[in-house]
Amino acid sequence: MSMAGAAREGAGPRRLLTVLQLATGYLQKKGVPQARLDAEVLLASVLECPRIQLYVQYDRILTPEEIARYRELTGRRGRREPVAYLVGRKEFCGLPFQVTPAVLIPRPETELLVDLASGWASQGGPDQALVAADVGTGSGAIAVALARRHPRAEVYATDAFAEALAVAQQNAASLGVAERVHFLRGNLAEPLLAQGLAGRVDILLSNPPYVSSSEFANLAPELAYEPRPALDGGLDGMKYYGPLWEQAARLVCTGGRVAFEVSPMIAEKVADLAKASEAWTEVSLHKDLAGHWRAVSARRT
Ligand SMILES: C[S@@+](CC[C@H](N)C(=O)[O-])C[C@H]1O[C@@H](n2cnc3c(N)ncnc32)[C@H](O)[C@@H]1O
Repeated sequence: MSMAGAAREGAGPRRLLTVLQLATGYLQKKGVPQARLDAEVLLASVLECPRIQLYVQYDRILTPEEIARYRELTGRRGRREPVAYLVGRKEFCGLPFQVTPAVLIPRPETELLVDLASGWASQGGPDQALVAADVGTGSGAIAVALARRHPRAEVYATDAFAEALAVAQQNAASLGVAERVHFLRGNLAEPLLAQGLAGRVDILLSNPPYVSSSEFANLAPELAYEPRPALDGGLDGMKYYGPLWEQAARLVCTGGRVAFEVSPMIAEKVADLAKASEAWTEVSLHKDLAGHWRAVSARRT
């Protein structure tokens, strides 16, 4: 029975557990991975309660309005719209970030960049003042998470798109770091150079677009909902790394650090760009928690 049918037949089929089971079956039929989890997350969002609360309300009778709203969300999920856009939220580094289709949904593997930066920042002690940069900030995930971890960090974050920066700004405000995260619009790190930060940045991070043209054909359907300019790294996924290393060499102070997120397929090539330049030493590759090469870092000579 469809959920609309269930709603028509009275309170029994409007019982929370029944509705959840119907939605799970529907999402499974649509090929959604983790259908039960998604069905629960969406229902918790409709009922505005933590997901865990669903388990103690299986006999709750949902209102027709709740059913209608849930039906809309599960329908969209069935068309493979990402859960994060449907609920407007994604956790990153343990913090709740607002997300809209104007920004890439922050990925768990990107937390590696924040962890690397935290390690370097901590070497100077917890009270060490720090200038950091996040190029292509999207939702502001990296910049805001770093500012939260290091109360004495000033973070400069850029993006080419005003719509993305508006979301990032809201996240900085709601997570209490708006005064220390400065958002600048422009091409890659150019706004930082224009801001007079040459030679003054201690840590520069970027998760640039790095999906190659050939990879686009085989991506999960969910990625079609994310902004193409946040993903598209050109023919071989390498489009942004050359300019990033070059701009980073001008911005980062002697002894300062850089870390770029990469796809495992281009990790070596990205590292080779830095090895070929006298600006960089200690060029290193780092694995994410899934064991894939996910970041390249270097130290400014
Ligand atoms: C892969 S997303 C990363 C977003 C965010 N930092 C994260 O890790 O979740 C790349 C970001 O770079 C931005 N971007 C793409 N081209 C750019 C350019 N030429 N200059 C500045 N930002 C750009 C996109 O708008 C997008 O927000």
